[in-house]
Amino acid sequence: MTAKIGIIGYPIGHSISPVFQQAGLDHLGIDATYEKWEVTPEGVGDFVDGLRAPDSLGINITVPHKQAVIPFLDEVDEWATAAGAVNTIVNRDGRLTGHNTDGPGFLRALLVETGYSPQGTRALILGAGGAARGILLALVRGGVDSLVIANRTLERAETLAQLASENGVESVAIPLTKSGEPADALTEAAASANLIVNCTTIGMSHGPDEHGSPLSADQIPASAIVNDLVYNPLLTPILKEAAAAGATALGGLHMLVYQGVLSFKMWTGKDAPVDVMLEAATAEMASRGA
Ligand SMILES: NC(=O)c1ccc[n+]([C@@H]2O[C@H](COP(=O)([O-])OP(=O)(O)OC[C@H]3O[C@@H](n4cnc5c(N)ncnc54)[C@H](OP(=O)(O)O)[C@@H]3O)[C@@H](O)[C@H]2O)c1
Repeated sequence: MTAKIGIIGYPIGHSISPVFQQAGLDHLGIDATYEKWEVTPEGVGDFVDGLRAPDSLGINITVPHKQAVIPFLDEVDEWATAAGAVNTIVNRDGRLTGHNTDGPGFLRALLVETGYSPQGTRALILGAGGAARGILLALVRGGVDSLVIANRTLERAETLAQLASENGVESVAIPLTKSGEPADALTEAAASANLIVNCTTIGMSHGPDEHGSPLSADQIPASAIVNDLVYNPLLTPILKEAAAAGATALGGLHMLVYQGVLSFKMWTGKDAPVDVMLEAATAEMASRGA
């Protein structure tokens, strides 16, 4: 029996998970297909119930269903409970468990690709949306020493700073200033950061500010690691600024693949072929002109 895995979202056309997950399954000779399914918000409950079938290993979940699937599961693990979002469901003999590999995938990508681990470091998070919340929790759980959250809408940064403080991490919210505006607080925060993570959509193809960068090279210390969550294009404006500053730059495709690598192990019990999956993901993005 060919096993089924896949990803649900609404819309789902853009997802490259089927490409790199199938490459990993085929490389290990696992008899499974990874598909993508567009599921409307009204259809989530019925779809998740269907995952109890014997040929289903589970699914990934993307926007906007990461919270909506939770009531239909038998159990939700600690990471997903803390994040309030599930990106992976595993079916074991009709019992469905919910997990969140986004935060662990983010940390694993940074550790493997740059040697960074949060313990005792200072981090600057740019943005305060859904992705920023997950990154903040991963850094807090990883033992980060202090956080600055910079966002265009200051109140949203304040909410996240409060969340970090409640978890025992010193944190400050500041405005994300535009180039040309006085940027003292942002410049100061960047200057002392060991890690800078762009969780805004600035620099994203077809996004609200696709050629913009939240920071310029003169604001980025050479000793910093800059991780952009944006992966389209592969080389984003802030990664170019980081390279010009002599800093270590990591694009968002690594986090995307590593969260998938962790899900792969949950479904199949096997270590995913990371290099094969990264290569497939990179080739797919290149074929889309990224
Ligand atoms: N690599 C991965 O695996 C991965 C995973 C998740 C997300 N991502 C990427 O991360 C990015 C954020 O995703 P999300 O789900 O967090 O989105 P979101 O919830 O919509 O948040 C968007 C963020 O970008 C800010 N923003 C948007 N337009 C802006 C502008 N013109 N100037 C300044 N700030 C602006 C928003 O600020 P306001 O609060 O002021 O609106 C907010 O902080 C996306 O590019 C997404 O593709 C990547």
